Amino acid sequence: MSIEKTFVAIKPDGVQRGLVSEVISRFERKGLKLAGMKLMKVPVEMAENHYGEHKGKPFFEGLVKFITSGPIVAMVWEGKGAIATCRQVIGATNPANAATGSIRGDLALDIGRNLVHGSDGPESAAREIGIFFKENEIVSSWDRNNDCWITE
Ligand code: RTP
Ligand code: MG
Repeated sequence: MSIEKTFVAIKPDGVQRGLVSEVISRFERKGLKLAGMKLMKVPVEMAENHYGEHKGKPFFEGLVKFITSGPIVAMVWEGKGAIATCRQVIGATNPANAATGSIRGDLALDIGRNLVHGSDGPESAAREIGIFFKENEIVSSWDRNNDCWITE
């Protein structure tokens, strides 16, 4: 398993509900390393590009409206197998099916208010990091003095 970077966002519902620190702490405690973070409002064109794979689906318009409705926290997390691990920490798309212990399983009820986004594979991770971050906004593989207690 290689060291990967993935894009994670706390959606407007997470910011509005005051769950920013709760969500961040779950990735930190897992052992992942923060490589980028900013609070931002997502412009409509950026949202349409980010969720481009869903264009034409019945929920697309509502999804874009929701994701642009208030600030999000955009983040890059790094670590061994970070892409799949972040998806596990986040849980299934529909909170009704998300495992207890996952963010959506513990903190959400509705598929349209599922709190957090995570890239679903290496291509989307690279694409989404590129949409939300400039190269100089990412701090890659910085030395963390407890790394040796997290990754062998
Ligand atoms: P995300 O991209 O937000 O991390 O979510 P995901 O990979 O788990 O799910 P995805 O299939 O990419 O869907 C993106 C977002 O669209 C909304 N959705 N609604 N009503 C529906 O059937 C439906 N399906 C998807 C969800 O908010 C989902 O997070
Ligand atoms: Mg997705």
